[in-house]
Parts: sequence; structure tokens; C-alpha cells
Amino acid sequence: MVKKWWMESVGYQIYPKSFKDSNNDGIGDLNGIYEKLDYLKDLGVNLIWICPFYDSPMDDNGYDVRNFFDVAKEFGTMDDVKKLILKAHEYGIKIILDFVLNHTSDEHPWFIESKSSKDNPYRDYYIWHEGTIVDGVKREPTNWGSFFGGSAWNYDETTESYYMKIFSNKMPDLNWSNEKVHQEMIDVANTWLDLGIDGFRIDAVSHLDRAPFEDTASNGEKYPLDWYKFSNLPKVHDYLKKLNKEVFSKRNCLTIGEVGGAASIEEGIKYASYESNELSMVFNFDHNWCNNMYDITNSKKLKVHVKDLKKVFNNWQEAFKDIGWLPLNWLNHDQPRLASHYGNYKYPLQSTKMLATALHMMRGTPFIYQGEEIGMTNYPFEDVSEFNDISSKANYHYHLEKEPDNPVKAIKKAGLRSRDNARTPMQWTNESPYAGFSDTKPWLAVNPNYKKINVEKNLNDPNSLFHHYQKLIELRTKSIYKDVIVYGSYKIIDLEHEELYIYLRKNKDHTLLIINSFSQKKVKYSLSNYEILDQLISNYPKTTLKNDDIVLKPFESIVFKVKEKL
Ligand code: GLC
Ligand code: CA
Repeated sequence: MVKKWWMESVGYQIYPKSFKDSNNDGIGDLNGIYEKLDYLKDLGVNLIWICPFYDSPMDDNGYDVRNFFDVAKEFGTMDDVKKLILKAHEYGIKIILDFVLNHTSDEHPWFIESKSSKDNPYRDYYIWHEGTIVDGVKREPTNWGSFFGGSAWNYDETTESYYMKIFSNKMPDLNWSNEKVHQEMIDVANTWLDLGIDGFRIDAVSHLDRAPFEDTASNGEKYPLDWYKFSNLPKVHDYLKKLNKEVFSKRNCLTIGEVGGAASIEEGIKYASYESNELSMVFNFDHNWCNNMYDITNSKKLKVHVKDLKKVFNNWQEAFKDIGWLPLNWLNHDQPRLASHYGNYKYPLQSTKMLATALHMMRGTPFIYQGEEIGMTNYPFEDVSEFNDISSKANYHYHLEKEPDNPVKAIKKAGLRSRDNARTPMQWTNESPYAGFSDTKPWLAVNPNYKKINVEKNLNDPNSLFHHYQKLIELRTKSIYKDVIVYGSYKIIDLEHEELYIYLRKNKDHTLLIINSFSQKKVKYSLSNYEILDQLISNYPKTTLKNDDIVLKPFESIVFKVKEKL
């Protein structure tokens, strides 16, 4: 059996800009993370993933890197990073950083050189094209759309050429068919590993290879977003095998690739099976689309597609069971808040505890996104001026263009999935007006529900969501069930059940039965196949067992130690 340190970890993702502001300039920072390491230790996590804090003009909050070897001044200094690594390691907490290798900022010295002339030595660090002439008029080389709206190309007057950029204009794509780029990025990775970090979450990694530059089919849109033109193409695997051979395999480091929405399970296996020699695991997003959030404008009518959700989790669990490892996460800094996405507004505490249990008892490495452990929710956006995120603004304008008379609908639509939902400042206390995040008006507004939802309140309430997460983490990292939760087999029960997600985890010592109800009503379920030996965790004070049946209350979730009856 393959065993690695990260398989026994529980991760926590930090978006530094929103976590904790230590010097009251309204922006979260590295010293803020340092201050809160005790909190993370208390929660019990032993791995943190910190989103980019490198020097950047912040067009995309740091994913647009200007200098890979320095820290953005609003986040702190190199010494702050070293101090943070040291203390985290003292606490038994490992650290992984975002490795952004698909693009740089347009203010990166390589790009400034690259755009200056066609024969500059850095020209081939990026993807340049003269453009296409259509009816005597010069236009973009292809009609491909970018993730943040508009074309995947941007025109630069200096050399009268287009450069490729699948995110924003200020994020030119690196040219991975140039081997010099490989060496540069190998240096970046080695430098941070030498500093003592424990691995990387690798940003946008599936996009490093591009299809031939030909137009894609359009259903009327000027710049259709066709993922297949720049996702999971063959050479990505060559590049990753090289990075693995020259860097990752020489260190005992964890690498998690963000493989985006277009990666199927088969693709996932190519990146992250034990035999692929590429990445330790990949984040996929299949479970993020299992409700009707795209079709509605009122969050109260949200409907979770339970069976779809179960199938997604089950398919990945099954496919990787003998051949690889998976991260387990509900959301990240690009997704809506869990409480608003899959939680239930009538049963916020029970439903979020249930969702936590359902995920944390699976096989894989759980990742909690900051604020998830206290039940933070989406923000009630009412005006486009409340958005900071570049893609939320673009989305708003996209919807408004379709229905120019309906700005309210446009804001609702863009608001529901806005990445800013996950980026509002962490709610530490009920202190007015900035929830203990800062004394100064933060860069993004605090969610007005901070008096009801905050860390302090969670810490003071033994029945809180925080304490539920703490217990789940303890079960996985310290309890006598540690081995079965980490390395045990996984098997779904009743795949077709409309409301219950039930699975078994098993090793030679223990069998655990995990039952999760996604229903607002009571659901009866027969346990006649099991002898119940113990109860590990649940989200109600009392379990209702009647003869061989369990009667589950709304969103009830329970983990039993059982013996299967033959
Ligand atoms: C990834 C990040 C996202 C960022 C994008 C470009 O998808 O998660 O936040 O905007 O890459 O770097
Ligand atoms: Ca600050």
C-alpha cells in the first residue's frame, strides 16, 4: 500500500488578502496568518495551502505574478515568510504555496522585454502572433474566448502583434514550448522548496499546451470559450513529467494540480495516478455543478441534485481506489460558499455539519477553505460596485448585455457564483464594524452577517460547526480510527437512493458506516445488515433507532462503527 505524509494530512486553504490584517491597512497579510496559527492548530489541521502572496500588481489578487522571488509589499516581506514557515513547522503544520506557471503579470520583466521587439531574447517566453487578415482587416489569430471574458488574445501596439492570455489582459500566457521557460520555472520551484515549503498547489496547470490556432465553432458569440483549445492537451503531460523528474521527485513534496472543469476522470488519472510521475493529486470541480445555481436568481429556490453529487464523488473515489490519491474539498477561493451552495438555509448548522462529515470521511486528503469551518455564507451583492473580482465584473456585464433593462437580474446572476463570495474578510469576532479582521475598512466588504457568524462565537459554543470540524479532524489524525479513515477502502451503499449518501470504510480492524441525509424531511432507513458497535460522530444530540431502522432527522449525518451481518 502506498503511504505518503500528505495522505495523513488535513489541509486548510488561506486566501491571504482576506484572512487576517495584522497592521490595519485593510488588507490581510502574512503576519496575520502567523497570528492565527494557534487558531489553526486548535482546529487541528496539519497542512496549509496559501494562495499567492508574490509581488504583483494585483489584477487578479496575486495570480498575476510580477516577481516570483519576492513578496508583495501589502502582504509582508521575505522575513515574514521565513518566520511563518518556521512557526508552522514547529506546530507540525506543513505549508504549500500556489505555483503559477501558466502566465505572469504583464509587468513581469520577462514580458516587458518580450513585448519590446520581435527579436528580443525574451520574445519566445510568451505566445505571440501577427493576427489574421479577414476581409482586409486584421483581427485576433483565432476567435477563442478567455476565462475572464472577451478574446483570448490581446493586441500590443509596440510590435503590432497579439499575445495570448486565457485569463486577463494583464496575465500573458507563458510559452511552454520554449525550453528556457521550463528552466526558469524549475528555478522558481526549487527556490521556494529550498526555503522550506512542503509543496505546491499548481495553478491552471492543465492549460500549458494549446491546440493549433484555428477558429472554434460559435453559436453566435464573438469569442466563444472553448476549453478544449487549451486544456489537457498532450504536451502538458510531457512538461509535468519533466518538472517531476527534475524537481518534485527529488523532494518529498506534495503537488496538487488544478486541472479545471474540462478534465474527465481519465484525464485526472493521467496526471495523478501513482504511475504517472507527474503530480501527487489533482483538484477537479465536477462536484461544484450539482445544483441549479446557474438557472436561478433567488438563492432560496436552490435545489441540490443529490444523485448527481453522489455519482460524482463515487466515480472519482472508485476510479482512484487502487491507483492514486485524491484531495477532498467542497470549495476554494473561486467557488461560492458551501453554506449557500449546498447547505440549507432552514437548517444551516445541521446541513453544513452533514456536508462536512460526508466529505471528511471519504478516502483522500480533506481541504477546508477559510471560513467554511464557521459556516460563512455568500455575500448579498446588490450592486456591481461591490465586486472586486475581475471575472465577476465581466460576468455582470455579460448578463447585462443579454438583458440591458434588467441590472437586478444581472447582479443576482453574477452574484450567486461570484468568486468574491469566498473572498470577503474572515469573520473573527462580532466586533463592529469589521468583524475583527481589521480596524480599517477592508479592501472587500465584510459580510453583514458577521454578528451571527464568527469564529469567537463558534469557539464558545461546544455544539458549533467549528467543533464539528475539529472532531472530524481529530478522528482522522489522532483517533484509533485514523487508519481506517485514511487508508481504508471505500464503498457506496444504495447508489440510487434519492436522499441519502451512505458509504462504508473498511480495513482489517474496523468497518465504518457513514450515513448522510440530504433531505429536509425525516427519512427511514433499514440497518438490518449491520450490528452497530459504536457511534463516532453525529450532528444531532440523539439518534432515533427503531428495531432495525434508523429514522434520520433533516440533514442528519452519523458515523457508526459496525459489523456487517453475513
Ligand atoms: C486559477 C485560480 C484563480 C485564478 C486563475 C488564474 O483558476 O484558482 O483564482 O484567477 O487560476 O491564475
Ligand atoms: Ca495588512
